[in-house]
Amino acid sequence: MPIQRPKGTQDLLPGTIEQWQYLEETIRTVCRAYGYEEIRTPIFEATELFQRGVGQTTDIVKKEMYTFLDKGDRSMTLRPELTASVCRAYVENKLYGQPQPVKLYYMGPMFRYERPQSGRFRQFHQFGIEVLGADQPVVDAEVISLVWNLYQRLGLTQLEVHVNSVGCPTCRAKHRKQLQEFLTPRQNELCNDCRERFERNPLRILDCKNPTCQAVTSGAPTTHDTLCEDCSTHFERVLVLLGLAGVVYRVNPRLVRGLDYYTKTAFEVMVEEIGAQSAICGGGRYDGLVEEIGGPPTPGIGFAMGLERVLAALQVQNQLPEQKPKLFAMLIALGEKAQNEGFSLLSTLRAQGISVSMDLLGRSLKTQLKAANRLGAQYALILGETELEQNLLLIRDLTLGEQIEVPLVEAVEEIKKKYQRGV
Ligand code: HAM
Repeated sequence: MPIQRPKGTQDLLPGTIEQWQYLEETIRTVCRAYGYEEIRTPIFEATELFQRGVGQTTDIVKKEMYTFLDKGDRSMTLRPELTASVCRAYVENKLYGQPQPVKLYYMGPMFRYERPQSGRFRQFHQFGIEVLGADQPVVDAEVISLVWNLYQRLGLTQLEVHVNSVGCPTCRAKHRKQLQEFLTPRQNELCNDCRERFERNPLRILDCKNPTCQAVTSGAPTTHDTLCEDCSTHFERVLVLLGLAGVVYRVNPRLVRGLDYYTKTAFEVMVEEIGAQSAICGGGRYDGLVEEIGGPPTPGIGFAMGLERVLAALQVQNQLPEQKPKLFAMLIALGEKAQNEGFSLLSTLRAQGISVSMDLLGRSLKTQLKAANRLGAQYALILGETELEQNLLLIRDLTLGEQIEVPLVEAVEEIKKKYQRGV
């Protein structure tokens, strides 16, 4: 049996990778426009970072981490998300000593041992941002408007932006108590997961997709019922600013996120068309996280989006740009002498940044022309024995079927001219 890739992972091959590159380039452009800088942190971290950062009661830490002992018997974990890592890097590299806030973005693979299904992978890719060192509502609005503007630029529609405030630890404790009191008489009706959540993390029951749990929790106290004045004022201000930024959103008082670190603003973006795993982006404020992992008290806010899901949404909405031909020209050199001449021409053209390929299998003219067409080349540069004797190069336009002959000494200039006209 040939070896297969692990369940829940993907090979991203040419033909698809161009879509990824397009998405990644658009993301970088938007991040630059908003003044964010890239950060890259390790693929694995000490397990304790996620236990403390993401939270012991979360699904991620309880069931989904790829954890292993390294040869030095240290417990390591493949990163399931990047917020905790970015906060660790902020503390470890003393970024709090730089002008605040620090505005960072990242893109890369994350790992969660989840049940694979459409839109849910064990290795998936996130683009995310984190802003550290600013607690004003205007930051929350900037972060959400960045998401909104990126999706506008990509041409995504049918977006549902849900916004909520989960409050500070004081509001949360009050809400937790009220929720437990409300749910106590109907505890037995909850699904197994929620019965377990009742003690450890009752807020998550509000988020359960099980219809019975949803029925039980309808009418349950929401986070809004217990917001303190500070959290409430903060949230109202965020909503006003979102309106000014043109973000179309819905306040969803039942939105609680699956990670423990959130305070105040929480948000998610959904595209129903892509199926059950419709959340393409999730984030919020986490004002206690940096301190939790050993740094100075520092407010923070950010989000992450699943790139596989954003691409799925672009695909169903027909918003992926047509792929441009990758190869500008195919050099067809027939015979050893022509190959020598062609090989040096190829090097000169490539050094100028022009994408040219050449047959590597010693095939006939006809087969090479077919290959050039299949690769989407715009031109064939033909160098046969006759051309070589006369010091000429045949340039054939593969779309129009026309061809011209140019003296070999002028070939580079001529090809360059055509290339520049095309770009
Ligand atoms: P999260 O909600 O766990 O948040 O993940 C964010 C996004 O990553 C999801 O909305 C989804 O698009 C994508 N995603 C998550 N799990 C999978 C999976 N198994 N397969 C495919 N896509 C997936 C976080 O990770 C937080 N760190 C976000 C954040 C940053 N909050 C503040 N700053």
